[in-house]
Amino acid sequence: MIATRLGLLGLPLLALAAPAVAQGQLNLYCSVQVEWCQAIATNFEKETGVKVAMTQKGSGETFAQIRAEAQNPKADVWFGGTGDPHMAAAEEKLTAVYESPNLKELHPWAQKQWSQSGKRSVGVYAGALGFGFNRELLAKKGQPAPACWADLVKPGLKGEVQMANPNSSGTAYVMIATIVQLMGEDPAFSYMKALHPNVNAYTRSGTAPIKAVARGETAVSISFVHDAVVEANAGFPAEYAMPCEGTGFEIGSMSIIGGARNMANARKFYDWALTTPAQRLGYDAGKQLQTPANRAAPLPPKAPDLGRMKLIEYDFAKYGRAAERRRLIERWDREVGSLPRG
Ligand code: G6P
Repeated sequence: MIATRLGLLGLPLLALAAPAVAQGQLNLYCSVQVEWCQAIATNFEKETGVKVAMTQKGSGETFAQIRAEAQNPKADVWFGGTGDPHMAAAEEKLTAVYESPNLKELHPWAQKQWSQSGKRSVGVYAGALGFGFNRELLAKKGQPAPACWADLVKPGLKGEVQMANPNSSGTAYVMIATIVQLMGEDPAFSYMKALHPNVNAYTRSGTAPIKAVARGETAVSISFVHDAVVEANAGFPAEYAMPCEGTGFEIGSMSIIGGARNMANARKFYDWALTTPAQRLGYDAGKQLQTPANRAAPLPPKAPDLGRMKLIEYDFAKYGRAAERRRLIERWDREVGSLPRG
């Protein structure tokens, strides 16, 4: 009777069917591709009734934002993005210590990110760095597909390579740290200076270069190779190669923001994001091809298999240190990013 009367007024039935409000909210900063960010936001909201406000930005940009908001945190959880800035945030105590009951379901590399970060960050996926390329465009230019880091600096690729800017993009920082670990710091900077004439743009986002490859706007990109397969699966002529000298990789990570306003929901989200069904969403709903951190979540079909790659022993503790990250990016700005274009 009451319900009928309220129903006649038109509004209250809606109010009765609104558990989202009752469960509060979650402010999510998300540094994976937007399709995956939307999928986790929608599914978590559907399963728990917690209203999710999601903002997608690159890893470097998100780190800078969390730092700027330290006195008055706006976000509750930071999901995804490369592990180094998550490590830097942990060191600066911008993120909170948390031990999820689901931690033991994860691969050792994901748990290692947790222990190395002083329990403030955890691995949610992994991905390897390599080259994306557009075979049709390379053929038109009479160039072979790049196979080694050494190939990218060849004169035949002048103006044909695209990579991201390490200030905003975690992908680009992984590239710098990888080259430094492979070659030693000074030779690495000589290499990046030699690469500069071949680079047509340092993009804000880590995925912009492979999207440019896919659309025929640049022949080669420095990218996480799973993103090249995402473009190929979408029907674009994008392929990838793993550098013959070896390469670096990311432990895509998740952290709870220190002083989060919605701490209970932040923990609820964190626990949920580590479960097998949530870990499967990256591929099932977001079409993404990283290696999931949960051991029971399968490697998606056609996803690059990190177990078969020549990977360096990436020193996440060292290159995730806030001062080291800042120093390398500043050196890149000074010696590479500010070089004239020509
Ligand atoms: C893409 C990749 C992720 C990576 C992220 C970093 O979404 O698929 O694996 O963590 O880019 O983005 P950024 O813009 O920080 O380089």
